[in-house]
Formats: sequence, structure tokens, C-alpha cells
Amino acid sequence: MRRLAIIGNWKMHTTPTSAKALALQLREHLKDVTQADLGICPPALSIPAVAEALRGSNISWGAQNAHWERDGAFTGELSVDALQELGCTYVIVGHSERRHVFGESDDMIAKRLARVAESGLLPILCVGEKEAERQESRTEEVLERQLTKGLAYVEKPPGLIAYEPVWAIGTGKRAEISDVEEAHRFIREKLQARFGSHASEVRILYGGSLKPENIEDLALSQEFDGGLVGGASLSAPSFAELIARAIKRRNH
Ligand code: 13P
Repeated sequence: MRRLAIIGNWKMHTTPTSAKALALQLREHLKDVTQADLGICPPALSIPAVAEALRGSNISWGAQNAHWERDGAFTGELSVDALQELGCTYVIVGHSERRHVFGESDDMIAKRLARVAESGLLPILCVGEKEAERQESRTEEVLERQLTKGLAYVEKPPGLIAYEPVWAIGTGKRAEISDVEEAHRFIREKLQARFGSHASEVRILYGGSLKPENIEDLALSQEFDGGLVGGASLSAPSFAELIARAIKRRNH
């Protein structure tokens, strides 16, 4: 089994002051966790504060996006060099909110991912279908397109891929275990076809309304290598409980 990775995506929540306080709480709650890779992706402006709070702990930090150019006239974008200087480990790429709220194309996402991968930071490529696409039985077609185009400029697969069905994000409605397993298997098959044996190294995470109360069946599944957690990562007790339950089931 691959090592669990459980990563919090704080989206646009927290200011530097509240982010630091929350990161310090997480540090305390999670200090004894050894059986999973842990990470937090705060809003970019809170990364320095979170880095200060988590340095030397078992929790890594990262960003929610990054630009493909080293520097230049790209107002509002995040530079990989700056993220490295702040000690980031992870960069989320192609999150559904970037795709569907901010109109990022598959090609932009592919370029972001290639730059992040080349830098040595770990990209987390997010893929997932919208509700209408699922209803029209187009889930696999969407995943295949997002994977093929999103990975167009890399020779090796990214270390982490997050399957986040859009309809499950922030809705309280986690996908059924069978849907998660089916999607993760499909993603793995596509990675195998493209990258051969390297595909087995990729950790495929699930994201979308994960909570302590609904993590356990997923954690038992061979297809589940961890989670990308939004809302539940904004409370230290709930994120810690989710992680504890995942590890407990994993070791069952
Ligand atoms: P929620 O856990 O709040 O549904 O968010 C999931 C997500 O988008 C993580 O990237």
C-alpha cells in the first residue's frame, strides 16, 4: 500500500494572523502522527505565517497555484521560486475552482504542472467531473481529457493526483465509495498507459466533503491513497480526528 497523504486546502480562508494560530493548533493536535504525510495549503498571503508556525514539525505546507514562467509581467500570479523560498513542499494545480470559477484551461494547467514538477515541488493535479457530466455518463471522458491534457508536458507522472468530483466539493455530499474506487482505478489505468510502471508510485487522493464521519470506508480501500480536505481542515480537532480515523482504518 502507498503511504497516506492527507492535505488541507484552506482556499481563501484565514488571514496571516488567524492562519498562524490555526497552524499552531494543528501542530499540537498532529504532533504524534507518523503514518501519513501531512500538508496544509493556505492562501498565498498566509504561507509565511504558516511556515513560521510549522517549521520543524511533521506538517508540510504548500500553495494553491503557481505560474509557469519564472518571473515577468503576470499580475496576480504566484512564482515557483518564491514558493520554494518560503519552504513549500506542495502546489495544488488545476483545482476545480481554478478551472470553473476562474476559467483556467487544460493547457494553462498543464504548463503550471510542468513548471512545478520541474522545480522539484510536488504538484497535486486535481481532476473531476461536474454533476451534469456525471449524469450524462461522461465522467471517464472528462477525467481522460483532464489527465491527457494536464500531463501533456511532463515525462513522469506527478507524485499526487486528487480526484475531486465538482458536485461533492463543499456540498456535504461525499461521493460513494464505489464511485471513488471506479474513478481512482480509471485514473491509475490511464497513468499506466502513459507512464508504465511509474504509475504505481502516484498517490491518488480523494477530495469533496471529507469529514471525520465519512473517511473510514475510504481509508479501507486499496484505491485510496489519501485526501485533499477543504472545510474540515479549517478546524484543528476535526482535521486531527479525520487523520486519526484514516490511519486507524488503514492499519486495520
Ligand atoms: P471540501 O472538503 O470543503 O468539500 O473541499 C474539497 C476541496 O475542494 C479540496 O481541495
